[in-house]
Amino acid sequence: MVEFTLPRNSRVRKGKTWPAPEGATRVRTFRIYRWSPDDDDNPRMDSYEIDMDECGPMVLDALIKIKNEIDPTLTFRRSCREGVCGSCSMNIDGTNTLACTKYIDEVKGAVKIYPLPHLHVVKDLVPDLNDAYAQLTSIEPWLKADTHPPDRERLQSPTERKKLDGLYECILCFSCTTSCPSYWWNSDRYLGPAVLLQAYRWIADSRDERTGERLDQLEDPFRLYRCHTIMNCTKTCPKGLNPGLAIAEIKKLMVLRQS
Ligand code: SF4
Ligand code: FES
Repeated sequence: MVEFTLPRNSRVRKGKTWPAPEGATRVRTFRIYRWSPDDDDNPRMDSYEIDMDECGPMVLDALIKIKNEIDPTLTFRRSCREGVCGSCSMNIDGTNTLACTKYIDEVKGAVKIYPLPHLHVVKDLVPDLNDAYAQLTSIEPWLKADTHPPDRERLQSPTERKKLDGLYECILCFSCTTSCPSYWWNSDRYLGPAVLLQAYRWIADSRDERTGERLDQLEDPFRLYRCHTIMNCTKTCPKGLNPGLAIAEIKKLMVLRQS
C-alpha cells in the first residue's frame, strides 16, 4: 500500500487554552483554528472557555466576544450579523455555515471552528476567495440585453419573476462551493455550485438576451460537467437554496437546445 507523509507544516497542533473567568457557571469551549502568515508556526487549535451568561446566542457572538475581550489577534470576517452579507461563512461543527445565524446551542460539546475547507488561508478563519470571485466574474453576472434601453423598467410577468425565486437570495457565502468534493479536486477548472447558481440566475431571467451565449460558455467538461450531483451544496446552504437543482436545470437546457 502506498504511504504518504504529510509535510511537517500541514500538522495542526494543540494551541493555547484561555480558561473561563472565575465563578462562571455556564461554560462552553470554542476550539478555533489559528494560523498566521507572519510566523513559521504550524496551524494550531486554540481553546477559549466562554461564560455563556455573558455571551449572545450565536457563534458569531462568541467570536466577537473572544476578539474584543480575550484575544484581539483572532481574525475572521463579518459584516451584517444578519445572514445577508455572506462574510462570516466558516466550518462550524463539521458543516459550512454562517457564524451569525448558527446557534451555539445547536452544537453538542466543544464548538469546533475552521475556515471554509480547501481554500488557501489568509489568516485564522479568513479564506482566500480571490479565485472564487474570478470565477464569478467569468460568468458575467449582470443583465445583458441588446435591445435599446427602454425609457422605463424592463417588465416581467409574475410567472417570469417567479423563476428567479430560490436564485436571487444567494448571498455568495461560498459555503456550498467549498463543501463540494468535485470543487476541492478541480477548483481551477470547475466553477462550483455558487457560481453555477449565479449563472443560472441570469439564464433564467426573462429580461436577459444572451442565454445562448451563456450556455455556450458553460458547455465544457470541467466548468459545468464536473458536477456529479453529490448534493453537499444543497445540504449545506445556510439560506436553504438548492444549487444542485440550478445546475441540473442548466444541464437540462444543454440537452434541450440540441433537440
Ligand atoms: S447557494 Fe447558498 S451556500 Fe451557496 S453561495 Fe449562495 S447562499 Fe451561500
Ligand atoms: S455577518 Fe453577514 S452573513 Fe454573517
